[in-house]
Amino acid sequence: MAVRLPADILLSSMICLLVLLNGDDGYHVFHLPSHVESARTSPGSFHWYNGLFVFGHSFADTGNFPKADLSEVTRQWYKPYGCSHGFLQDPTGRFSNGFVQSDFIGKILGRTKAPETYRDTKENNGDKFGLNFAVGGAGVFEVPRKAPTLAKQIDSFKKMLDNGDIGKWQLKESVTLVAISGKDYARVANMTSESEILSFIGNVTDQIAGGVERLQKLGVTKVLVNTLHPLACTPWQARPSNYTKCMGRGNMAALFHNDDLEKKQNATSSNNVYLLDLN
Ligand SMILES: *[C@@H]1O[C@H](CO)[C@@H](O)[C@H](O)[C@H]1NC(C)=O
Ligand SMILES: *[C@@H]1O[C@H](CO)[C@@H](O)[C@H](O)[C@H]1NC(C)=O
Ligand SMILES: *[C@@H]1O[C@H](CO)[C@@H](O)[C@H](O)[C@H]1NC(C)=O
Ligand SMILES: *[C@@H]1O[C@H](CO)[C@@H](O)[C@H](O)[C@H]1NC(C)=O
Repeated sequence: MAVRLPADILLSSMICLLVLLNGDDGYHVFHLPSHVESARTSPGSFHWYNGLFVFGHSFADTGNFPKADLSEVTRQWYKPYGCSHGFLQDPTGRFSNGFVQSDFIGKILGRTKAPETYRDTKENNGDKFGLNFAVGGAGVFEVPRKAPTLAKQIDSFKKMLDNGDIGKWQLKESVTLVAISGKDYARVANMTSESEILSFIGNVTDQIAGGVERLQKLGVTKVLVNTLHPLACTPWQARPSNYTKCMGRGNMAALFHNDDLEKKQNATSSNNVYLLDLN
């Protein structure tokens, strides 16, 4: 059974929640004062209990795409990215002025930010309570930018499991976030028939549900899966109107997507899969 969580619970910046993961007996959410958040935090040290594994795209990427000369695909390493709050004063490879979704969930788990990026694995300079495989621009299907798809991100994760870099016991104590939130739908702009769009939505949700199932077979126990936000209101859609209007059919597509995803998660009767309602 899939359970929907409202996004405002998980995404508000002054999060007052602590998610406690107690063995296998479920998921307990408590309201606590925010100062409790970082009580267990010690950046840079190695602690895998109550870890976080992240897959997805720019909502969750914390620097997996390497820094390079300024271009459209590396702009997250340049100001004004990262210029706003907290200790993230400089661009960090996040597509944000500050934190992204994986950071907020890291904070809910008692850390200061998201776990280290997959790219940093060898450099030993991140907060090692899990790993972040998300890459900006990624979807379930290949995109022009060639960000690794959800399936490829899971391949990398599997390789680390097979090598023993991540132990299965660690997964039992961890939360996994699947933040695949719409990159695939850029191509819907070119689709003319409604049936083609619906067929494509079905294909995207198949891939997401399939990815979640694969993660569970690999030993992941608790999974948060993003639903789609109102796509037509995202900046890449609203730009032509100077951000005064939500453009196109994206909001309708998002509703179909979310309903379809929920049906599929319900059908696989996966316990401990939580749809995170971004709409
Ligand atoms: C839509 O079609 C045009 C013309 O064929 C192409 O240049 C563009 O890349 C396509 N857009 C997407 C998102 O696939
Ligand atoms: C959806 O997937 C099916 C089966 O792979 C394929 O035949 C169909 O063309 C896909 N639909 C779209 C719109 O891509
Ligand atoms: C958007 O704003 C710019 C700068 O103010 C203006 O030049 C342009 O005409 C506006 N475009 C639309 C579609 O309103
Ligand atoms: C999924 O299951 C939940 C809980 O049983 C139910 O409330 C919801 O309507 C179902 N959603 C769909 C789309 O079938």
